Amino acid sequence: MISPAESTKSIRLEILRQDTPSSQGYWQTFDVPITPASNVTSLLRTISGRPVTSDGRNVAPPAYEASCLEEVCGSCTMVINGRVRQACSTLVRRLMAESPGSPITIEPMTKFPVIRDLIVDRSRMFENLKRIKAWIPIDGSFNLGAGPKITPEQQHTMYPLSRCMSCGSCLEACPQFTRDNHFLGAQIFSMARYYNMHPNGKPDADARMEVLMGDGGITDCGNSQNCVRVCPKDIPLTESIGVIGRSATVYSIKKFFSK
Ligand code: SF4
Ligand code: FES
Repeated sequence: MISPAESTKSIRLEILRQDTPSSQGYWQTFDVPITPASNVTSLLRTISGRPVTSDGRNVAPPAYEASCLEEVCGSCTMVINGRVRQACSTLVRRLMAESPGSPITIEPMTKFPVIRDLIVDRSRMFENLKRIKAWIPIDGSFNLGAGPKITPEQQHTMYPLSRCMSCGSCLEACPQFTRDNHFLGAQIFSMARYYNMHPNGKPDADARMEVLMGDGGITDCGNSQNCVRVCPKDIPLTESIGVIGRSATVYSIKKFFSK
């Protein structure tokens, strides 16, 4: 905890910046006043209001994303003190407890192309969600009537999966997910499991399995289990990987005998 006396203190922030998608990154250091309630987003906002480096240079404010400010949208995901997490829910006092006396380092995620400073292009993740049809097909303005019943047992399994906010943390931490391959990653496997379980998502289950068994699919998972360690929503990702692996086996057998 930060004591009242410490609440007037500053903390040093080292930010890895990058001006354009193709330019080299460089570090800039800022000293920022903190309060007991400071989180990393609030520090970035303070810097934006007065973007002056520790050695007194006026610079452009660091570019970063934030929307919900309550760990729901995933847009503020970045690498803070070497660990991927959300800037809005990362409290400065916790970081100080983790590494007393050290500056806070902030870097953009490394598995997605940098657009500027801490903003990355996570289109790959959203394109993959489109590929697995991560939606319930209920288009239309007519009355579809009551939806199918979902048992409390199904809800118990599905609800944790539904909490995914597409932050990309699991992909950032995964050694298998690199910029030059097509690995889908734990988030996609887990979302496919969710929609395959949903009564209205089931009709597209085979189409999902085709994607999950193609290039970059489930067989490429190295089972490092880093994904489950960093997921801020505590989604049982390794369980989902196991379920999708078994579904892939069943689907292959079904496909073989239906030839
Ligand atoms: S599974 Fe967890 S870590 Fe991965 S994108 Fe969803 S919320 Fe983020
Ligand atoms: S701003 Fe939405 S998760 Fe941080």
